[in-house]
Amino acid sequence: MAFPENFINELTERNDIVEVVSSYVRLSKKSGSNLFGLCPFHSEKTPSFSVSPDKQIYHCFGCGKGGGVINFVMEIENLSFPEAVEFLAKRAGMPMPEETNDRESRRRARMLELNKAAARFFYEQLSTPAGQAACDYMRKRKLSPATARNFGIGFAPDTWDSLTEAMKSQGFTEQELAEAGLVRRGKSGGVYDTFRNRLMFPVIDVRGNVIGFSGRILGDGEPKYMNSPETLVFNKSRNLFALNLAKKSKCGYIILSEGNIDVASLHQAGFDSAVASLGTSLTPEQARLISRYTDQVVIAYDNDGAGIKAAQRAIGILEKLDLKVKVLRLEGAKDPDEFIKLKGPEAFRKLLEGSEDQIDYRLRAVTEKYDLSSDGDKVAFLKEATELVARLPGAVERQVYAMRVASMAGVPESVVADEAQRRRKRLLSSARKAQEREQTRVDRAPPGGGRTGRYSDPASAAAEEGVIRLLYLEPSLIDEPGLPDTEDFSQESLGRIYSAIRDRLRRGESVNTATLGEELSGEDMSLLVSLLQKPELLSRSRQSLHDYINKIKERREESSQSSDLRALANKYREKKGYEG
Ligand code: GTP
Ligand code: MN
Repeated sequence: MAFPENFINELTERNDIVEVVSSYVRLSKKSGSNLFGLCPFHSEKTPSFSVSPDKQIYHCFGCGKGGGVINFVMEIENLSFPEAVEFLAKRAGMPMPEETNDRESRRRARMLELNKAAARFFYEQLSTPAGQAACDYMRKRKLSPATARNFGIGFAPDTWDSLTEAMKSQGFTEQELAEAGLVRRGKSGGVYDTFRNRLMFPVIDVRGNVIGFSGRILGDGEPKYMNSPETLVFNKSRNLFALNLAKKSKCGYIILSEGNIDVASLHQAGFDSAVASLGTSLTPEQARLISRYTDQVVIAYDNDGAGIKAAQRAIGILEKLDLKVKVLRLEGAKDPDEFIKLKGPEAFRKLLEGSEDQIDYRLRAVTEKYDLSSDGDKVAFLKEATELVARLPGAVERQVYAMRVASMAGVPESVVADEAQRRRKRLLSSARKAQEREQTRVDRAPPGGGRTGRYSDPASAAAEEGVIRLLYLEPSLIDEPGLPDTEDFSQESLGRIYSAIRDRLRRGESVNTATLGEELSGEDMSLLVSLLQKPELLSRSRQSLHDYINKIKERREESSQSSDLRALANKYREKKGYEG
């Protein structure tokens, strides 16, 4: 913990969750002791966002987000845990505790120092004989030395211990290297460099800290990229590659692309507002981060099926934050890098200036599916395009696009406009009905919102949730014999929550949303809060705990028999390589 426990507890006492939430969300009393309002984290028309003054937690039945007051501030202000603590301390007029000699923040600072030293080491390799391979590769990809300097691109030599030895000689320990994800432990207990024979991109946060690395293989091979694991300072879903540079751009928008090479190549060609997410699809946290710096985003994803799908997902996430979104169509190239290589920066500039807003983009996607000279296709096109028009929120927009669709299909405008109007009425009425159903569901929903539906092994997961719930509500159970190992959990997220709670209790520390907030991601915290809402009879807590434990172990045995098959399947999934 970066902050003393009693400080955090006082902080949450002095920041009532109802008061804090109320400055962002209009809450009203509905049923029982909970307050309800429109969820600030997803768009909705009827309130499914609840705040419990008794438990001092929030939970959205719609999107599943939840947590305590600190989580709420992290989420809505897009702050890290320590930043949110500072925010709330200011709000309550509390002085911050002396942090300088605190263990955790020292560890963090030390890891950043190590990352910086490692980045420098990688960069220096470019001017050694061993680094020639990397220089050759960059030359082949037309990345200049100035670009290498701008991004701090470097090279991890093709050896098992170059980085390890260099860092040790600077006084860093193997333990520190391992915690930063820069080395891995071998079977014999020794360590070896994680990144070998790779072009190294440091990931730098908006404050200029080197928080992790992304290493590309020189040429073809698998896996193409290796990224640092999540560490004390590195959280992939809350950071964007090159945002440290892009945030200084004067151009007024952010270009969102997929690959590190694309970003480097874009900056080199003068498009200095390009960023990429770190090997995952765009997350809401990243979108919120972007919205701190701009209100307009241009999506320049790869020109393939995956890129188009990812773009459509990103549009949804970005528009929820009222960001204006445009999408580039990179005709004749597979990605922005190739586009610039083939057609030059000027062509890319033109593309940016003429880039379509997302309605054009969607309309064109529909157009391209059909051959408008065939009558059968024309009917199908009209159906799909009219549906799109019907869903546009503004009347003027609907008119403009009805006109365009009509002229594309060569039919009178009124045909499209009338049909769109009819469809819209139907849409609105079914949306209204769905809302009413949703409302009854929220009112009657069992606590927890039935999230077990998403688990791979619901029976085990239900028991895993039970163990977590009991330990959280009845900490003395930590001394019971036979508590499961984290590995016994079928659901990784539940395993993480369990081990965080177990470890705190074993150290004699208290467990609540505030003290767990630093360790658990927002998603895990939401899961915890939602599972806490299911009822648990505490009168027979010991018996229940053992029932749950038995269930988990029983399921574990059953599944281990089929685990060989699963491992094989996973291996194929990982080949896609995206989330790792
Ligand atoms: P080029 O093929 O050289 O253009 O590479 P790129 O940098 O443009 O990357 P690409 O478009 O292939 O992939 C986009 C992003 O996905 C990369 O920047 C990585 O962050 C991530 N990625 C790609 N391949 C892998 C992989 O094998 N493993 C992991 N973990 N991430 C990957
Ligand atoms: Mn690419």
